Amino acid sequence: MANLTTASRDTIATLERRSREACVVYPRHPLPDGCLPDHADIGIETSGDETLLHIRRGIEFTGPEDPEIAEWVATGTRRFETFGDCVAWLRQKLGAPSQARGEPRASAGRQARPGRSAPKRPPVRRLPVEQVTELEQVEIQSKPAPTPAELGQVLSAQVLGQDAAINGLVELAAHHLAKPYPRRPASALLIGATGTGKTLAAEQLAEHLTETSGAQWSYERLDMSEFSERHSVSRLFGAPPGYIGYDDGHDLASALRNNPKTVILLDEMDKAHPQLWRSIMNLMDAGRIGGQAREIDARQAILLFTSNKDAAAVQPLADASDQRLRRFLRDHGYPPEIVGRLGRVLVFKPLSPAVTAQLIVLTVQRIVESYGLLLDRIAPDAVADLANRAPLQSGGRDVEYFIERELGGKLAEALREIPPEASGAGVRAAIDEGLEVTLHAEASPTA
Ligand SMILES: Nc1ncnc2c1ncn2[C@@H]1O[C@H](COP(=O)(O)OP(=O)(O)OP(=O)(O)O)[C@@H](O)[C@H]1O
Ligand SMILES: [Mg+2]
Repeated sequence: MANLTTASRDTIATLERRSREACVVYPRHPLPDGCLPDHADIGIETSGDETLLHIRRGIEFTGPEDPEIAEWVATGTRRFETFGDCVAWLRQKLGAPSQARGEPRASAGRQARPGRSAPKRPPVRRLPVEQVTELEQVEIQSKPAPTPAELGQVLSAQVLGQDAAINGLVELAAHHLAKPYPRRPASALLIGATGTGKTLAAEQLAEHLTETSGAQWSYERLDMSEFSERHSVSRLFGAPPGYIGYDDGHDLASALRNNPKTVILLDEMDKAHPQLWRSIMNLMDAGRIGGQAREIDARQAILLFTSNKDAAAVQPLADASDQRLRRFLRDHGYPPEIVGRLGRVLVFKPLSPAVTAQLIVLTVQRIVESYGLLLDRIAPDAVADLANRAPLQSGGRDVEYFIERELGGKLAEALREIPPEASGAGVRAAIDEGLEVTLHAEASPTA
């Protein structure tokens, strides 16, 4: 039977999509050397920002020594940040020739660490696509779809401190999805200062809509600063059939042809040529434009425009009425006919000190996890210290780079002190005042 380690890119992409809707189970997948039995059911499940690789319990692992496989088999689950990491791990562990698998590696027990050279991976054996049949054999265990309220919670946990805007976004999406035959696309303008989560919110909505709606949603970001010239406007609607670029997926037309259920992010809309606004307006009105082969049907799509123009003047309007917001937009050069057609106007607030602290904790947690560790605790003084020194002039945009610079070296150094036998067993990190990092091989009592 073809297996996950030899699957084609297309198969992997399909699997990734399906693992967002359900836990995809591979019956009787071959296991690495030293596993008894040598086949087991394994499952892949993607939710939120993690991918879980499950294996049926009760497998005996007698080596060759590999703490990562031993831990996976013993606990039944291994967690990865991305689906890609999970597949890469499987390919490395399960796809390698047997003599290479047993060799102890420097990364045992941890995922890839930024700044260190990755261990050399054994070559991946490839199988012709037509021989890959495993998707016909998968068993799907459906997860209940989250409700719009749950979707709001999921998005608010990622896009911090923007509850009002996120609720507006989720409502817009929920109303649109409730229509089996929408007459036009849903649309919203997301405005506010730079680095406050506008683009992040659009990405997260697209990512989580699939779970909520049970349908497959796609995401396409179009950078409107690339459409500032009059002649570039037609490019947005794609090359005609037979021309280079037709259906390459990088314009509005091909994105919607590939999947009518797409969240289209028209990022930095204020930079686009005014003619583009007018063309988009036609699309918003009629839900489709063009004719025959070039027709664009956007009725099921969600169009999200972002802008950080006049951000300072927008800020005091964060809690203003919809009417007042639209008046503001008209007074600040947005075409009135567009303003009238927007489904929602959503204001993103500057990150408050409390939200910044939350963002710092979340970012520290992600960075710690990227070193294969779990965050046990971070002292309030350490959070305050990072918040005081972080470069916040571009909102949350540079926070992650800053924290990586501050903490990355310390985490890597602490990891070098850990005895190899402890490294596979869920090592926890505590970060104290002065950004002092201490690692514990076992769960320590919560502070
Ligand atoms: N509210 C937030 N919650 C969590 N992370 C945030 C938030 N705002 C910004 N960030 C962080 O900053 C990065 C940049 O944010 P994003 O791209 O969404 O900014 P933006 O509002 O679209 O800015 P711009 O107007 O310049 O395009 C994000 O990827 C995320 O890491
Ligand atoms: Mg943006």
